[in-house]
Amino acid sequence: MKAAIIDGKKIAETIRGELAEEIEDLKSKRNIIPGLAVVLVGENPASQVYVRMKNKACHDIGIYSEQQTYPADVSEEELLNKVKELNADDKIHGILVQLPLPKHINEFKVINTILPEKDVDGFHPVNIGKLMIGEDCFKPCTPYGVHKLLIHSGVDLNGSHVVVVGRSNIVGKPVANMLLQKEKDANATVTVCHSRTRDLPAVTRQADVLIAAIGRPEMITADMVKEGAVVIDVGVNRVDDPSSEKGYKLVGDVKFDEVAEKCRAITPVPGGVGPMTITMLLYNTVQSAKKKAGITG
Ligand code: GUN
Repeated sequence: MKAAIIDGKKIAETIRGELAEEIEDLKSKRNIIPGLAVVLVGENPASQVYVRMKNKACHDIGIYSEQQTYPADVSEEELLNKVKELNADDKIHGILVQLPLPKHINEFKVINTILPEKDVDGFHPVNIGKLMIGEDCFKPCTPYGVHKLLIHSGVDLNGSHVVVVGRSNIVGKPVANMLLQKEKDANATVTVCHSRTRDLPAVTRQADVLIAAIGRPEMITADMVKEGAVVIDVGVNRVDDPSSEKGYKLVGDVKFDEVAEKCRAITPVPGGVGPMTITMLLYNTVQSAKKKAGITG
């Protein structure tokens, strides 16, 4: 294999270590304990795993966390009331409602009910709007994690061509905005592609940095990647694997083995972007607690 592996787990551990020290300081010097509320609706197995991981990550570094679990048939009103209660709860600095929600609940309505200053997921329109115009805000955790991975790996984004495949509100659109900003560690030329893009391989082959966030297993093949590119794989797809105990395995949106022969650096799945997503959630929660106490920096 030619490519360097961008080790998301290791970078995440470094950032979590710094956060743990900061939290210890907040506790001992200011009596502040950052707090996160996680709301889970229904029994989506992937959501259950993510929520468990988020709670454990909080516990490991000293963030208070509580989980509110509801059956899939909970009413929208009950859920909105819980969000309002958490908005008013002083020990809670961050509120995360795990998505997707059941179809009878309006996701936008739920997200819009979270106070922007507790929206550590960075999904509220106020935070999304601020992100677009380069104002201080909570940034969505997965794209924020992608940006941090690139910075920590020493990738020079200034003037580089970043191609994002996928236009979701959670990843594609925000990551494109972040890397486009007129800021140090950004200033990229960004192209966003999607399912209707004509001749996708011709576009992806122009990328100095290729970000795959499509949600289709191993769709990005070696012929779609420029020699020497940096490849970030945001995909987490379950595919059948009778040889594994669970009956499935996780693969990304990139055909790892063949692309790794051609590119300069690549994130693995798992162990790439995933650990960074949770780390940025922890980071945002600590930032929220600091902001509430008037602590800057
Ligand atoms: N579902 C998939 N990714 C996310 C995320 O980052 N936050 C929330 N709340 N739900 C998700």
